[in-house]
Amino acid sequence: MHHFQYMDNVLYAEDVPVAAIARKVGTPFYLYSHATLTRHFKAFDEAFANIRHLTCFSMKSNSNMAILRLFALMGGGVDIVSGGELYRALKAGVDPSKIVYSGVGKEAADLEYALESGILMFNAESAQEIQILNDTAERVGRRARVAIRVNPDVDPKTHPYISTGLKENKFGIDIQEAVRHYSVAAGLKGLTVVGVSCHIGSQITRVSPFVDALNKLKELIEGLRGIGLGIQYVDLGGGLGITYDKEAPPHPRDYARAIGRELKGLDVTLILEPGRVIVGNAGILVTKVLYTKIKQEKIFFVVDSAMNDLMRPSLYNSYHAIQPVTIRGRETVRADVVGPVCESGDFLARGREMEMQEPGDLVAVMSAGAYGFSMSSTYNSRPRVCEVMVKGERFYTIREREGFEDLIRGEKLPDFLAVDRAVQGQGEGQ
Ligand code: LLP
Repeated sequence: MHHFQYMDNVLYAEDVPVAAIARKVGTPFYLYSHATLTRHFKAFDEAFANIRHLTCFSMKSNSNMAILRLFALMGGGVDIVSGGELYRALKAGVDPSKIVYSGVGKEAADLEYALESGILMFNAESAQEIQILNDTAERVGRRARVAIRVNPDVDPKTHPYISTGLKENKFGIDIQEAVRHYSVAAGLKGLTVVGVSCHIGSQITRVSPFVDALNKLKELIEGLRGIGLGIQYVDLGGGLGITYDKEAPPHPRDYARAIGRELKGLDVTLILEPGRVIVGNAGILVTKVLYTKIKQEKIFFVVDSAMNDLMRPSLYNSYHAIQPVTIRGRETVRADVVGPVCESGDFLARGREMEMQEPGDLVAVMSAGAYGFSMSSTYNSRPRVCEVMVKGERFYTIREREGFEDLIRGEKLPDFLAVDRAVQGQGEGQ
């Protein structure tokens, strides 16, 4: 259940007709429901009420400051993967003591920024990173709280591009090797070993891979405690899936129950890094039909948003439901919904049965709140779209639509290519 529903064949976001927002802000735009965001965060966080835990929203899924602020006010922390994400999180008022930092390629300058900011924990992913983190900590005179991100080698049974906990993936340190790296880390003056972490993948639709991973982590923790290391945190990463089409992922309650059973007696604080499950179904992408092309049996709806706005269908062939903003009761056709970008891979849906559309009609690409705007680009020099949050009867632009001038911000012409000169040069040649 979310807050994008039809009333008399008109799609509403909470109490506002989506078409009314489009009239005000233009198309395309991302639209998030405040009520859905709030409900999802609460449902997740409260599922773990009986377990000592911290919910660190994985902000790569959606890094808009208004959304970060909302979760921060609800007591959430964040999971970051870059200095840029840390900057956004701090600007949005996220408590640094609720920030965890993962990623295979952390740069020394970003490590320093995170150390100076006093974040909760670094999830280190390699021997070299452990050394650099230590050196940085010693240089700035702080101690870094560290967990090692281990690769537990469990198969999350999801799309290969978003599986991260298998031996062949680039992430983490192999669990068999972990004790050795922990021993090194424990001997370094700039580090305090505090936890164990993993993240096995994304869009996971069953509980068992998480339980398998946790069991492997438990064994490791016993081993580490055996050699005198104080493990206070277990970070299980994110990964709980959502319904895009017909998937039936477990409810956060089922997930929490299974995890809670395994954690009994372990005396740790659980850290969770959910992204998609919180924001995925709290957002849609609203786009306008520009043209309808009927080519030998095949129908294309050319819309004003494209792979640069929502990359998931092109990149993963992933399914997003597409719904008319006004149901008009026209005939059902099978169509490809495509964007204006000059690539055949630029589609939002293929072979989709839906009501016939006409130029000017609006359609909503559903389940677009996670890895939608945050993965968007300006490919084909298409300015990035605006983001809007609806709350009850009101709506708020939470990111302005970019203009052409934004496209060239920061670009520079070297002297020998200066526009004046080029014009002169042209003159001279004639
Ligand atoms: N923690 C870590 C360390 C991660 O790498 C990720 C996602 C998460 C948490 C959050 O996972 P979630 O709860 O959202 O599944 N662009 C892809 C998804 C990539 C996920 C990368 N890591 C997509 O659009 O499906």
